[in-house]
Amino acid sequence: MGLFAVFVFLLYVTQDALTAKVEVQEGTESVVLPCQYSQPLEEIFTVKWSRHDLNPTIVHQSREGDDGQSQNQLFSGRTSMRSDALDSGDFSLTLSKPQLSDTGNYICSITDDEDEATLSDVQLHVIASPESFTVKVEVQEGAESVVLPCQYNQVLEEVVTVKWSRRDLNPSIVHQRREGDNLQLQNQLFSGRTSMRSDALDSGNFSLTLRNFQLSDIGNYICSMIDEEEKTLSEVELQLKVSQDSLTKKVEVQWVQSVVLPCQYSQPLEEMVTVKWRRLDLNPDIVHQRREGDDLESQNELFKGRTSMRPDAFDSSDFSLTLSELQLSDSGNYTCSMIDDEEKETTLSEVNLHVKAIPTWVTVLLVLLGLLVCAVSGGLLYNFRHKFRSGKSIL
Ligand SMILES: *[C@@H]1O[C@H](CO)[C@@H](O)[C@H](O)[C@H]1NC(C)=O
Ligand SMILES: *[C@@H]1O[C@H](CO)[C@@H](O)[C@H](O)[C@H]1NC(C)=O
Repeated sequence: MGLFAVFVFLLYVTQDALTAKVEVQEGTESVVLPCQYSQPLEEIFTVKWSRHDLNPTIVHQSREGDDGQSQNQLFSGRTSMRSDALDSGDFSLTLSKPQLSDTGNYICSITDDEDEATLSDVQLHVIASPESFTVKVEVQEGAESVVLPCQYNQVLEEVVTVKWSRRDLNPSIVHQRREGDNLQLQNQLFSGRTSMRSDALDSGNFSLTLRNFQLSDIGNYICSMIDEEEKTLSEVELQLKVSQDSLTKKVEVQWVQSVVLPCQYSQPLEEMVTVKWRRLDLNPDIVHQRREGDDLESQNELFKGRTSMRPDAFDSSDFSLTLSELQLSDSGNYTCSMIDDEEKETTLSEVNLHVKAIPTWVTVLLVLLGLLVCAVSGGLLYNFRHKFRSGKSIL
C-alpha cells in the first residue's frame, strides 16, 4: 500500500488535473465527461466520479466491473464507462439523458484506500431546451383559477426558497415560499390570490394557483429555486384564451363612408410578424397586408386604395383596418391574423361586416325630397325674379 501511495503522489505531480467545461442541452441523448490517464496501470484500483455538492457524492465508481452500491440515486442507470476503461486508461463517463439538475462539478479520480488523485474536474452545464423550458398556459376570461406548473424532480436535502416572479413587474415577486409562505415582498396585484400546495417543498410540486383571474395577469411567470444560487425551473407564459364567440365580431353599418374593423393583440410584439387581413370568399383573398410597411402587391383589386392601418400598428399591437368608400359588396367575413417567421399563424380576430343598403322607402323619400327642394327653390326664384322685376319697374 505504501508503495502505491507514492506512485499515486508521483502521477499527481506529473499529470496536472484536466479541467474542462462541457455544455449540453437538456433532452440530449447523452454527454461524455472526459477523463484520461496516460500512464500504464499496474495496480488495480478504483476510478471514481463524484460531485461534492451531493450526498452521497458518488456519481459512478468502478473497480473491476461497475459498483453501483454507493452511487447517488440521481444517477441510477444513467452512467457508464468504457468496458476496457481500466486497461485503456480512458475513464470518461457517459451520462445519459442529462437534466438541468445535472449541472455541477464532476471530479474524476483514482484512489486506493488511503490516497486519492484527481485526474479531471469537469464543469458540466446543462442548458434548458427552449421548448421544455417555456410552458404555455391558456386561461379564459372570467376563470375561477389557473395553475402555473413547476416541478422539481429531485429530493430536496436542504431548505430552499421557491420564488415565482414576473420580470415586467416591480416588485417582481408573485409568490415566495421558504419554510412557509413569505409574502412581504409580494406585488400587491397578487395579494390574496396566490397559493402553493402545503406539501410543495416535500413533493417538489411548486405549481402556483392563481385565483380570480384578471387581464393584467397575462404575462411570463418564472419559477425558480434559490439555495446557494438561483436556478430557474420553469417559465410559464400565461395567455388569454380567446373563445370562438368573442373572436367573431359583428359590425353593421349604414349611412357611413368608412368603417374600422377591429383587431388587437393583447401582448407586446417581440419579433417581426406579418399581419394579414383576408376575405376567404375572394380570390385573391388579401384585403390588406403589412410587414415592415404595407405590402399590397397581392391585394385584391376590389380594395385598392380603400384600406389603411395605423402607422404605429406594430408598436401599439392594434391592427384594426379602416375600410373607406364602403360598398354593398364589402359585406363579408374578414379575418385578421399574424404570421411569425416560423410560418405559425395566429388568428386574432374575425369580423362579420354587414354594409346595409339604404332602404327603398328612404330612396323614394329622398327623391321626393329632392323634387320638393327643386320645386320650392324654383318657386322662390320665380318669386324673387318677379319682385326684382317689379322693383325695377318702380325705378
Ligand atoms: C401539482 O399541483 C397542482 C396544484 O395543486 C396540481 O394541479 C397538479 O396536478 C400537480 N402536479 C403533479 C404532477 O402532481
Ligand atoms: C360569415 O360567417 C358566418 C359564420 O361565422 C356565416 O354564417 C356567413 O354565411 C358568412 N358570410 C359570408 C358572406 O361568407
